[in-house]
Amino acid sequence: MAQTMTVMLYYILFLLLGFGTANVAGAGGGKWQLLQKSIGITAMHMQLLHNDRVVIFDRTDFGLSNLSLPNGQCRNNPKELAVQVDCTAHSVEYDVPSNSFRPLVVQTDVWCSSGATTPDGQLIQTGGFNDGERRIRIFNPCNAGSTECDWQEVDNGLLARRWYATNHRLPDGRQIIIGGRRQFNYEFYPKTANAPNVYSLRFLVETNDLKIENNLYPFVHLNVDGNLFIFANNRAILFDYVNNKVVKTYPTIPGGDPRSYPSTGSSVLLPLRNLQSKAIEAEVLVCGGAPKGSYNQAMSGNFVGALNTCARIKITDPNPQWIVETMPQARVMSDMLLLPNGNVVIINGGAAGTAGWEYGRNPVLNPIIYRPDNPVGARFETQNPSSIPRMYHSTAILLRDGRVLVGGSNPNIYYNFTGVLFPTELSLEAFSPPYLDAQSSTLRPKILSPSSQTKIALGQRFTVQFTLAAALNGSTVAVTMVAPSFTTHSFSMNQRLLVIGGSNVAAAGPSKYVVEAVAPRSGNLAPSGFYLLFVVHQEIPSEGIWVQIA
Ligand SMILES: *[C@@H]1O[C@H](CO)[C@@H](O)[C@H](O)[C@H]1NC(C)=O
Ligand SMILES: *[C@@H]1O[C@H](CO)[C@@H](O)[C@H](O)[C@H]1NC(C)=O
Ligand SMILES: *[C@@H]1O[C@H](CO)[C@@H](O)[C@H](O)[C@H]1NC(C)=O
Repeated sequence: MAQTMTVMLYYILFLLLGFGTANVAGAGGGKWQLLQKSIGITAMHMQLLHNDRVVIFDRTDFGLSNLSLPNGQCRNNPKELAVQVDCTAHSVEYDVPSNSFRPLVVQTDVWCSSGATTPDGQLIQTGGFNDGERRIRIFNPCNAGSTECDWQEVDNGLLARRWYATNHRLPDGRQIIIGGRRQFNYEFYPKTANAPNVYSLRFLVETNDLKIENNLYPFVHLNVDGNLFIFANNRAILFDYVNNKVVKTYPTIPGGDPRSYPSTGSSVLLPLRNLQSKAIEAEVLVCGGAPKGSYNQAMSGNFVGALNTCARIKITDPNPQWIVETMPQARVMSDMLLLPNGNVVIINGGAAGTAGWEYGRNPVLNPIIYRPDNPVGARFETQNPSSIPRMYHSTAILLRDGRVLVGGSNPNIYYNFTGVLFPTELSLEAFSPPYLDAQSSTLRPKILSPSSQTKIALGQRFTVQFTLAAALNGSTVAVTMVAPSFTTHSFSMNQRLLVIGGSNVAAAGPSKYVVEAVAPRSGNLAPSGFYLLFVVHQEIPSEGIWVQIA
């Protein structure tokens, strides 16, 4: 009897500690930190800039936010749908080092829009809804110490309305804007003499499920050959955007279930390695989503279980095939981010229903780390849970210090904070993956040089100096470069990670080392712009520095 009691007590303790679900990591499973209880708006779209500030915005057409505009300003916009005179902010600039924020002013509706940074680090935001659907908004990052910068808007900057479109930085410094609701086409920013128009993209017609679409916010990755890998619904093409030509058609993901909005899964281009070789390989991973029909089911109150599979494909292969793997949980509306050490974190979302207003259920609070280099069957590691559901309109981005910034969740038509299943969430959290645990601090490299904001040319050889408290494990050093993403609707646009060095490390003094790196040789591998550069040692990344590929 006493023995049974003891076993039961242990079992209860086990559940209380959160070890109740299969495959859960306890210590070593990452940590959550509440950064801000409220930033006054909901983090529906996020972009980290090279001054370590994050531009965040939600939308203007659904009522008053919880943050006033500065200096008693109000927007008086007769075209606005909800409140014509609105003295609240719908965008903020969040400063990572000081954990503080300030309101910014958007003039028109930025809801469900897209963006990318330019080679010199401006944020170009494109489109939105209503009066904002053809706007281009430029955010020029503030200089250090300044809080003067704000949005500038260009009316009719786009030729087509862009609502739920995807952007990608291009090797020549432009960006491409693909699709959006009822837009089966693409255009560029800025416009050039040889590409001034809108160009049709039949693939978006072919992947458009009647009424439900299932192909919005397509997953776009720049392939190493300069063509774009475009995934929508349940399949992908390799697309030559210069000649408007499909170069390759990839097979449908086995099972055929959709992975794009509103059956929202997510996708990353896996780390690019061996950049000096003639035939660089590239792989894409797509995870989660919702079975066909889930959106209609959710509309009638039936929340179908999300997909629990990922599909991985070598997009450079002459005969590419999807390989399907099973996640520890089913997930829809999860974000996927490349971590500095080349692993992928899958975070946020729910286990049932779909994207779209109030159509998601069963929040998934545990992130997963996916180790792309492990054998199939040993790639997923469940992490410690947050306590805050992050449903529709939630986001996550990588920060320079290796943490993941998490925010948003606004599955209601207004800023409803009570009386709804998932109240609008104004908080910001940070998830610290296990590599940030204090016990790894002696293994963590610290970069001495180059200095932050260094310009590096394509193909340039350079060295990175770092210190390390523990003995060097020379076979485990890597220099990586990560492009910061524009994240919204569970997709991180422009995200890519390149392994640019590590094999050649030498001692340079007590606890001091120097490692060789070679910047990618082509803009097809790394479009010019700002990247975070890390030194990784035994999977533990340094704090990043900013470098500008010019
Ligand atoms: C919004 O602001 C009001 C007034 O300042 C405050 O009482 C309320 O708690 C805030 N709501 C949230 C969710 O932060
Ligand atoms: C949500 O907020 C809007 C606007 O404030 C209000 O009209 C609506 O009744 C709210 N819904 C619920 C369920 O509280
Ligand atoms: C060096 O790292 C490798 C790979 O992680 C590991 O197998 C090996 O045990 C490490 N060696 C030492 C001395 O820590």
